[in-house]
Amino acid sequence: MVIGVPTEIKNNENRVGITPGGVYELTKRGHTVYIQKDAGINSGFVNQQYIDAGANILDTIEEVYAIAQMIVKVKEPIAPEYTLIKKDQIVFTYFHFASSEPLTKAMIASGATCIAYETVEEADRSLPLLTPMSEVAGRMSIQQGARYLEKPVKGRGVLLGGVPGVSPGKVLVLGAGVVGIQAAKMAAGLGAHVTILDISMKRLRYVNDIMPPHVVTEFSNEFNIRKHIKTHDLIIGGVLIPGAKAPKLITRDMLKEMRPGTVIVDVAVDQGGCVETSKPTTHQDPVFIIDDVVHYCVANMPGAVPYTSTVALTNVTLPYVLKLADKGWETACAQDEVLKKGVNIVSGDVVYEEISEVFDIPYTPLAI
Ligand SMILES: NC(=O)c1ccc[n+]([C@@H]2O[C@H](COP(=O)([O-])OP(=O)(O)OC[C@H]3O[C@@H](n4cnc5c(N)ncnc54)[C@H](O)[C@@H]3O)[C@@H](O)[C@H]2O)c1
Repeated sequence: MVIGVPTEIKNNENRVGITPGGVYELTKRGHTVYIQKDAGINSGFVNQQYIDAGANILDTIEEVYAIAQMIVKVKEPIAPEYTLIKKDQIVFTYFHFASSEPLTKAMIASGATCIAYETVEEADRSLPLLTPMSEVAGRMSIQQGARYLEKPVKGRGVLLGGVPGVSPGKVLVLGAGVVGIQAAKMAAGLGAHVTILDISMKRLRYVNDIMPPHVVTEFSNEFNIRKHIKTHDLIIGGVLIPGAKAPKLITRDMLKEMRPGTVIVDVAVDQGGCVETSKPTTHQDPVFIIDDVVHYCVANMPGAVPYTSTVALTNVTLPYVLKLADKGWETACAQDEVLKKGVNIVSGDVVYEEISEVFDIPYTPLAI
């Protein structure tokens, strides 16, 4: 198969859909890979590394879309890409169709086969192509939180790990899912005292089993949240109710209960946030302050660490890229129920029920 990897053109997107290692695996199996010049540069991969792995470099995005049978990228196509996508071309990337009607309509019009990273789903309903980004964001939340606890950026002036003779900082983690566990692990590693709350006893039992004794678990409810916000220095929001907006666990009035300089990192801001006062921010301007509480609400945290994020993402996408390239999408999906869940649009038909419901577009069951 001929695979094309364009440079991401969405604002501030520095990741790339394939690493030189991925190119090597594809070309070894007889596939041909075209990658746009400098597509990997912001993730730390230069053109020569791709050439050495067997790729061909093309100068323009138009050439990449024109030649490829399958496009492998990271973010959803944006308007200038809509008309480059061809009938029967496979496009394997994050789409998030439900949040964009223009994108959905454009992909229907294109006649392409759209396979969305975010709906590739395991039997236990976990989303293997989203997990690595939650891992990155969870770990990063402590790094960023520790930084904004510093006094010159209006934090409490607390060093998370403490020093001999001074107690460590206290971190409250809301949600013991992927983000929450990675955050707790990093905070514990720094020596902070960590309290982690969830409504799932199964998650709390797991955390209790694997974490050191200075990570304590409690059931998530308003009483416990109100109790802990008074004494914790850094609060991480990592809750998720699949398919719904995040619940507002911290309300505006609660900010008054916190000590000045408390930092909130609301990782769940991409689903509306679990703090009433959260609103999405960017890496250029990541924080704002309300009632002396510092809010960090960057909606695409992994974008700040494109090397790690690209490698983490392509580690999990490559096995599917290989299946799609080796077998073609129909056979690959017929043989793999997890990948099949990723198919959203085929030749102008919406084959993913939730998308048809959101935009009131007829649903066509996938016939493979
Ligand atoms: N900002 C970013 O850059 C970024 C990056 C990756 C993920 N995210 C977001 O982070 C959030 C968490 O993702 P995840 O992968 O950890 O999800 P997850 O499903 O693994 O974990 C969510 C956890 O929240 C718990 N939960 C639900 N309601 C709760 C409540 N009332 N109190 C406490 N816990 C509750 C669930 O039981 C679950 O354990 C999502 O909204 C995700 O989109 C943001």
